[in-house]
Amino acid sequence: MKSTPMHKRIKRHIIGPDHDFFIATSPSLNQVCHEELLSYSLPVKDSEPVPGGVSFKGRLSDCFCANLFLRTANRILMRIDEFKATNFTGLEEKTARIPWELYLQENSRVRVIVSAQKSRLYHKDAIAQRVLSAIHTRVPVSTESLLDQMVFVRGFEDRFTLSLDSSGDLLYKRGVKQHGGKAPLRETLAAAALRLAGYAPEKPLLDPMCGSGTFSLEAAMMAKGIPAGWFRRFAFMDWPAFKNESWEYLKKQEEKRFRVFDHPLIFASDQDENACKTLEKTIADKHLSDVARVDCMDFFALDPSRISHEPGLVALNPPYGLRLKNPNENKLFCEKILRQLLRDYQNWSFILVLPEKNALKILPPGVIHRVLPVFHGGLSVFLIIGKI
Ligand SMILES: C[S@@+](CC[C@H](N)C(=O)[O-])C[C@H]1O[C@@H](n2cnc3c(N)ncnc32)[C@H](O)[C@@H]1O
Repeated sequence: MKSTPMHKRIKRHIIGPDHDFFIATSPSLNQVCHEELLSYSLPVKDSEPVPGGVSFKGRLSDCFCANLFLRTANRILMRIDEFKATNFTGLEEKTARIPWELYLQENSRVRVIVSAQKSRLYHKDAIAQRVLSAIHTRVPVSTESLLDQMVFVRGFEDRFTLSLDSSGDLLYKRGVKQHGGKAPLRETLAAAALRLAGYAPEKPLLDPMCGSGTFSLEAAMMAKGIPAGWFRRFAFMDWPAFKNESWEYLKKQEEKRFRVFDHPLIFASDQDENACKTLEKTIADKHLSDVARVDCMDFFALDPSRISHEPGLVALNPPYGLRLKNPNENKLFCEKILRQLLRDYQNWSFILVLPEKNALKILPPGVIHRVLPVFHGGLSVFLIIGKI
């Protein structure tokens, strides 16, 4: 970075000091996300799970790394300022005092997202418009630019917190899949499930109703040591404080640690031939074929002992919801799956993502270790972890 007065200000105010960050997660995944954050040994401070996510203090480089590494986070916000405002003049004046030129490139397309509760200012569109025009007094913003930047404004009891989104697209979008599949799991949920089930890359993973392959792709990236955000961009890459050379250096160092497997330990399968073909192509395109393999077959015809002598982890997210019209069909289908697990998967750990818990009654005591209610595709479902 050249040493112009602007660059010096960016260094002193943005790159050098610690900032407050907020990692937004799905409601029940803040604990697992916090554990994940700690597992990367980043030099962050005061990290803790809070409602809706995880907060931490750290430098800008920690925020960049958290975006790159975290598999269970939805997005990461950088707190910019907090102040009291009871009228629009105050809101505008205080917003215009923020040195936006240090945070935003000229002509970014800024979108202001507002939530306001128990505040005298509550009209979201009006707040957004005032904040945008205050930003515009410091740095020209454009409605046509490709540099998309979200600013989050949260008002509560007349106090307003302004944050900059560092992620861009939600982080579950890994830039890996070019396909959607029928009812794909969110990558963040699959990653959380794998963590909670203690997925170990040296043991086999079966994903026998793989669909678009979320469990398998997440596990493959974990096994090879490929960071969650390896294949995508982030909003912070357009910030004036972002240095591409440092980023490329960090990625090069990470790449040196990627692992190569001499035989696959992740086995994805599905009865849907097209889903299998598409997943196979994704695995090949992303150079994951050393660790993951795809076969087209019926789960009920699968004999795990023919795939692996050693028990591992089986992850199942069977179809449910609108496609099974009779609600009892969900339960019967889940029971059929559980019977299959009890018969053929002795000593295997399992992950189940199911719409209801009634079917679980057929499992003997002690088999289930954890049941976590989660939201998935607008439905409330259960993430169940256990061992047969
Ligand atoms: C909810 S989707 C799984 C979505 C997947 N977790 C993902 O992230 O894309 C359920 C999948 O189960 C598959 N399936 C249903 N019955 C099956 C069976 N008997 N054997 C194998 N696959 C089956 C369907 O083809 C579908 O792809």
